[in-house]
Amino acid sequence: MKLLRLLLLILFSVVSGLWAHAETGEDAWLRYAPLSNETVRRLYTSLPTRVVNLSRDAISQSATREVVGGLGRMLGLKIQDAGSPEGSSAILLGTLSGIRRAFPGLIADGKPAAGTFWLKTARWRGQKYWIVAGADPRGVLYGTFSLLGRIASGESVTALDDLQSPYAPLRWVNQWDNLDGSIERGYAGRSIFFDSGAVRTDLTRVSEYARLLASVGINGCVINNVNASPRILADDFLPQLARIAEAFRPWGVQLAISVDFSSPKTTGGLSSFDPADPQVAAWWKKKADEIYARIPDFGGLLVKADSEGRSGPSTYGRTHADAANVLARALKAHGGVVFYRGFVYNHHLDWRDPKADRAKAAYDNFHPLDGKFDDNVIVQTKYGPIDFQAREPVSPLFGGLQKTNEAIELQITQEYTGQQRHLCFLAPMWKQVLDFDLRVNDRATPVKDLISGRTFHRPAGGFAGVANVGLDANWLAHPLAMANLYGFGRLAWNPDLAAEKVAEEWTQLTFGNDPLVVRTIAAMQLASWRIYESYTGPLGAGTLTDILGPHYGPGIESSERNGWGQWHRADHDGIGMDRTMATGTGFIGQYWPVVRQLYETLEKCPDELLLFMHHVPYTHILHSGKTVIQHIYDSHYDGAEQALQLVEQWQTLHGHVDDERYEAVLQRLQYQAGHAEVWRDAICEWFLRTSGIADEQGRAGHHPGRIEAEAMQLDGYEIVAVNPWETASGGKAVACHRPAGCATSFAFSLSAGSYDLSVQYFDQSNGVSRYRVSVNDHLADEWLADDHLPSAQMNGHTSTRHTARMELHAGDVVRVEGTPDEGEPAPLDYVEIRRAH
Ligand code: GCU
Repeated sequence: MKLLRLLLLILFSVVSGLWAHAETGEDAWLRYAPLSNETVRRLYTSLPTRVVNLSRDAISQSATREVVGGLGRMLGLKIQDAGSPEGSSAILLGTLSGIRRAFPGLIADGKPAAGTFWLKTARWRGQKYWIVAGADPRGVLYGTFSLLGRIASGESVTALDDLQSPYAPLRWVNQWDNLDGSIERGYAGRSIFFDSGAVRTDLTRVSEYARLLASVGINGCVINNVNASPRILADDFLPQLARIAEAFRPWGVQLAISVDFSSPKTTGGLSSFDPADPQVAAWWKKKADEIYARIPDFGGLLVKADSEGRSGPSTYGRTHADAANVLARALKAHGGVVFYRGFVYNHHLDWRDPKADRAKAAYDNFHPLDGKFDDNVIVQTKYGPIDFQAREPVSPLFGGLQKTNEAIELQITQEYTGQQRHLCFLAPMWKQVLDFDLRVNDRATPVKDLISGRTFHRPAGGFAGVANVGLDANWLAHPLAMANLYGFGRLAWNPDLAAEKVAEEWTQLTFGNDPLVVRTIAAMQLASWRIYESYTGPLGAGTLTDILGPHYGPGIESSERNGWGQWHRADHDGIGMDRTMATGTGFIGQYWPVVRQLYETLEKCPDELLLFMHHVPYTHILHSGKTVIQHIYDSHYDGAEQALQLVEQWQTLHGHVDDERYEAVLQRLQYQAGHAEVWRDAICEWFLRTSGIADEQGRAGHHPGRIEAEAMQLDGYEIVAVNPWETASGGKAVACHRPAGCATSFAFSLSAGSYDLSVQYFDQSNGVSRYRVSVNDHLADEWLADDHLPSAQMNGHTSTRHTARMELHAGDVVRVEGTPDEGEPAPLDYVEIRRAH
C-alpha cells in the first residue's frame, strides 16, 4: 500500500513537473524562460543579486516580486529583497521623488506624466545601481517590466539611460463579457470575470490578466459588455465588483464598467432616465458615491447609448452631451471618467435611398456637439466609420472634434478578421490608422495626436482596445493572436513604434531568441493582415462576410438590401458605395479639404479604398493597371496561395519551438489555408456569375482535380442546395439522413502516384459526424467533425477540409463514408486530389 502511494506520488510529481513546463501559452509574453545561450547569459554576469524598493505600496511591491521571479527564472539568480540601498550594488526601484530623496542630485527636478519611467545605471558611493524610477508606482512597475523584457530578449543592460512616457493618459482595454459568463465576440472560452450571473469565486486568471496588461502599460479595464446588463449596478453586485478591483489593484489597472443608460429606471426604480431630470442626476451621483466608497480607485464608466437598440438620451429628446455629462458630473468629485461611444447609427436605414450612409453617422451625431462635453468625458470612436472591417478609412470624426476629449477604439478580438482561427496581426493596420494625417485646419494632425489630446491640448484621451480574452489557457485561442493584445498595449504606449519592432519583441518574449524563429514568426505576422484582406474583401468594399450571422465566413449578399448599412452595392455592372460629394452620399465631405481631395476623385483615390468611396464598373482600370474584376480574381487567388505558404513557413520551425505550440499553430494554419480557399471560391464564383466577366487566367469557376460530391456515385446521400449558394462548390452538397451512414464513391482516373486527397465537408456545431475514406475497401483515413465552428448549417462558416496523403492508381475506387450525428448530416461538398510534392 505504502509502495503504491509512493509510486503515485512520484508519478504525480513527474506529471506535474511536466505540466509546469508545458507551453500552454498561459504565460504569454511573460514567460521569463531560462536564458540558455552562454553568450547571452554572459551579458548579465554583473547584475546584482539585491533588489531595493523605496516604495511600500502594492503596485511597487508587484515590481519587486517581478524582479525576484523574473531574474530567478531567466538567470537562476537568487535575488534578495533588501531594505537599504547602502553597502552593495542593487536593482533600485522607487518613485522619482523617493529616489531624489535617497540620492540627492542624481535625478533632475521635473514632473513627468503619470506612468513615466526612467531606467538608469549609476554609481553611488562606489557601488553600481540599476535604477528603475517611476513618476508614480505605475511608472515603477512599467519600468520594471521594461527592464526584464530587455533581459528576456537578450539586450545588454550594462549602461541604461532611458526615459519613457506614455503617449496618451488613458490606455484601456474593453472586455465584452456578459454576466452569465459568455462573451460577445469572444473566441477563447468563457469569461474570466463572470459565471452564472455573478463574479467568479476564483479570480486567479483576473490577476494574471491584470499583470499581462500592466506589463504593456494598460491602465484600465472595462470588464463587461457594452451591451450592458443593468444588473451590473445592482446593490448586491457592488461588493463583487470590489473583489475584481482588488485583483487589479496591485497591477495598477483601474476597474471600469459599461452601464446601461436606462439604469435609473430599470435598476433604480425611477419613472424616467431623462438626463435632465434632477432625480436622475441624483441617482447617478448616489450610485457613483456608493461605487467609490467601496472602490476608491474606480476608473469610470463606458456607455453605448442610442445604438443598435440600446436606450439613450433620444428617448427624451436630449443630446449625447446631456447623457455623457450627467454621468461625468456624478464621477467628477472622485476623479472618474466617462467613455461615451461614438458608435451611434441607425440600423434601420433605407437601403433604397442612394444618399443614406451609415458611415456618416458618427460625425453627424457628434460633430455638432463639439465643446458641449465636460472635461472628464472622452468620446470613444471606432477607427473606421463602419465597424472594425479589415480595411476602412479613418473615421472623419477624429478630425471633427477640437474641444472634446477623444479615444480610438481598436479591436483586438478578431471579430471581422478571422476570429482567431485565421492569423491576422493587426499592428500594421493600427499603425496606418494612427499615423493617418487628417489635415485638420490644414496642419499635420495624425490620428495619434488627436486622440492623445496633444493636438488641441485636451486634458484626457487615448486608446480603447476590445480584447475579449477568455478562460482558454492561452487567452485568445490562437497562440499567435496574443501579438495583437501585446501590440495594442505597445502602440498605446508609443504609437511611433514600428510594427516590425512590435512583432519582433513579441516573438522574442513569447518564443525565445532563436533568430530563425524570430525572423520567421515576425515575417508571418507582418504579412498576415494583407493576406487576410486579399482573400476576404477587395479594394475597401468591406469583408463580404455574413454580417447577419457570426461575421466569420463568406456571405456576400447578406450586407445588401437591409437596414444595417454595410452595403457594397454590387450588381451586374459594378460595385462600390458612391460616397463622393459630387454624386454620392457626401460622406467624403466630412473630411478636411486635403483628405477630401484625396478621396473625391477616381484619379487620386487609392486603390485599397476605391470601393469604399466610389461605385465603378467592373471594367474600371485601377492605378495598378488591372481591371477591378481581374483584381478581385487575382487577389483572392494570391491571398489563398499565401495562406498556404504560411503553413510552409511555419513548418520550417519544427524543432525550433516547443511541440505544444508548434502543433497548435500548425493546426490553425492548415485550417486557415483551407478556409482561405472557401473564401476565394465563394467570392470569385459570385463575382464571375454576377458580372459575367471571365477570369483572364481561367481559374475562377474551374477546379482541376476537384470532384463534386453530387457528381459521385451516391449510396444514401441526398443532394442539397447550400445557402448562400457561393459557399458550396457548385452551390450544392450532399447530406446523409440515414443513422447508419451513407457513402459516396468515384473511380480515380489519373496515373499512379502519391496524392494529397482533401475532403471538403461542413463541420456544423450541432453534432459530431464521422468520416472514413477507403481505397478499394481498405481504410485510408478517418476522422470526426468535432471542431466548434460558428454555425449549425452548411455554409461558409462551417466549410472545412481534411487532407491525407495516399498512393493511388488509375481505376482505384475511392469511397467516402459519412455517419451523421444529432443534427449534423455528415455533409460533403467535394474531394480534391493533388499530386503530392
Ligand atoms: C459590432 C459587434 C457587436 C457589438 C457592436 C458594438 O456591431 O458585432 O457585437 O455590440 O459592434 O461595438 O457595440
